[in-house]
Amino acid sequence: MFRIQNFLPKTLRKILTRVIKNELLKQRIAIEAEIPKIDFKKDHLQNAKLLINRSELLEMLPKNGVVAEIGVDEGGYSSQILELNNPKKLHLVDSWSSEQYRHKREKVEKKFIPEINQGRVEINLGLSTEVCSNFPDKYFDWVYIDTGHGYKLTKEELICYSTKMKDGGVIVGHDFITWEYLGFNRYGVIEAVSEFCNEYDWELIFLTMEVSGHPSFAIRKISNTKSS
Ligand SMILES: C[S@@+](CC[C@H](N)C(=O)[O-])C[C@H]1O[C@@H](n2cnc3c(N)ncnc32)[C@H](O)[C@@H]1O
Repeated sequence: MFRIQNFLPKTLRKILTRVIKNELLKQRIAIEAEIPKIDFKKDHLQNAKLLINRSELLEMLPKNGVVAEIGVDEGGYSSQILELNNPKKLHLVDSWSSEQYRHKREKVEKKFIPEINQGRVEINLGLSTEVCSNFPDKYFDWVYIDTGHGYKLTKEELICYSTKMKDGGVIVGHDFITWEYLGFNRYGVIEAVSEFCNEYDWELIFLTMEVSGHPSFAIRKISNTKSS
C-alpha cells in the first residue's frame, strides 16, 4: 500500500502535518465564526419527546394530510411517508441539481407514476426556498426538510416553510447534527433550529435517537399548542 511516510523524511512529515493541521484549523475557525450559537430556552424543550428513529417519527405525524418532503434523493423516505402516513397530497421538492443527485430525478418520476397520475404525488422541481413561495400560506400539515443542511439554508427554509404551515403544523427535518457523518461538511441544522425557535417561538416536540448518527427533529409553534 502507498504510504506517504515511506517516502518522506520524518522531520518533513512533521512539518507538513503541522502546516495542514493549522490550515484546517483556520478554515474551521472561519466557518464557526459565521454560525450563531443560541441555546434553546426551557420553554422550547419542555414538551420534547425522544423517539427511536425517523420511522417511529412518521408514526407520530398526522395521517391523510398535506405534506412535503423537501430534499428527496431517490424517494426512499417518500415511499415510507406514502405507506405510513397515507398523505392526501405529497409534494416532493428537489432541485436534483448537484452531480451527486442529478440522475435521480428520473428515478423518482418513474417510481411514483401511479401516485402522480392519481394526483396524490406532485414533483416540485427547484430550489427549496424558491419553490416554497409558490405554495399557499397555511397549506401544509407537516413538511420534512432534508436538503443541504447548512446553517444559512436551513434557517431560510424554516422561515419560509413556517409561513406555509397550518395552525399546529409541524416542521420536521433530518440531520440534527453539527457535522456531516464523515466529518467533511459543517452542518448547521441544530443552530438554525434553535435560533429559529428562539426568534419565532416554536418548540421542539420530537428528537430521534438513531445510533447511526442521523437524528431528525420536529418543531411546532408554541402559541398554537397553548390555545388547543
Ligand atoms: C440527503 S438527500 C435527501 C434524502 C431523502 N430525504 C431521504 O431521506 O431519502 C438531499 C436531497 O436534497 C436535494 N437538495 C439539496 N439542496 C437543495 C436545495 N437547496 N433545494 C432543493 N433540493 C436540494 C438534493 O438534490 C438531494 O436530492
